[in-house]
Amino acid sequence: MEVLIVEREVRPGVALVRLNRPESLNALNRALVAQLTDTLLALDQEESVRAIVLTGNERAFAAGADIKEMASDSAVDMLKLDQFQRWDQIKRLKKPLIAAVSGYALGGGCELAMLCDIIIASETAQFGQPEIKIGVIPGAGGTQRLTRAIGKSRAMEYVLTGRFFSAQQAEAWGLVSRVVPVELYLEEALKLAAEIAAMPPLAVQLAKQSINKVYELSLEEGLHFERRNFYLLFATEDQKEGMRAFMEKRAATWQGK
Ligand code: HXC
Repeated sequence: MEVLIVEREVRPGVALVRLNRPESLNALNRALVAQLTDTLLALDQEESVRAIVLTGNERAFAAGADIKEMASDSAVDMLKLDQFQRWDQIKRLKKPLIAAVSGYALGGGCELAMLCDIIIASETAQFGQPEIKIGVIPGAGGTQRLTRAIGKSRAMEYVLTGRFFSAQQAEAWGLVSRVVPVELYLEEALKLAAEIAAMPPLAVQLAKQSINKVYELSLEEGLHFERRNFYLLFATEDQKEGMRAFMEKRAATWQGK
């Protein structure tokens, strides 16, 4: 059985990537992470793909790294493998990546959702960083990204106890954009992806890049970065077309140039 299912053009310009190890609640073993990163990098290069949706199934987005696979690893194995460099590749994707999360998003599963640009959650979603309960800590960004998303006190509480939190809590704390009924979470994510896919791709790319700099730079440097990207977009045909179309009261046609 394929551990990853990829569908192109599920909506115009939208690719859907589905984690598919349902028997282990989509536990992220090395083969799956390797396939996932290779696939995302390849989709990022495809001209016709303008936005990507990443999902699991109703019961689990992903219940974390595969505990059975890593249980007997030594620190030296971990260092040699350096699997988290793969995760950094996801961070560098140019195209928008939307997580459609239902059920468990735990440990590496929660970290994977947080690596995405936007999270749409079903009302059944449960988030958490339960690594502490198995003698470790989050290793794929959980202590950093969760803290930035929901604040230090809450991150401390949930990382130090390993407790789960609900979709509703995640929404109230700003971790997810929206909570929707379970029948709709994928549909809503695809709809959002299609809306973004219909926008001028270079502007989308530079907007994503600029927002992500919030976590890397000071306000001064971030404003500078944004301004450069803004000026740069005036070198694109899409900027000319977009502004002309506005004045001519018609819909714009984007070329991605
Ligand atoms: C390997 C896992 C797994 C995991 C579930 N399974 N999570 N296998 N690694 N992370 C397997 C179970 O062993 C079981 O297989 C099957 O999936 C169904 O799970 P159950 O436990 O029977 O289901 P349930 O009772 O509903 O409990 C669901 C659950 C629980 C609460 C999500 O499975 C759980 O606590 N899982 C571990 C969550 C976790 O600790 N994640 C963090 C991992 S560390 P069998 O063969 O028994 O039927 C991590 C480090 C991050 O992520 C580093 C970055 C990569």
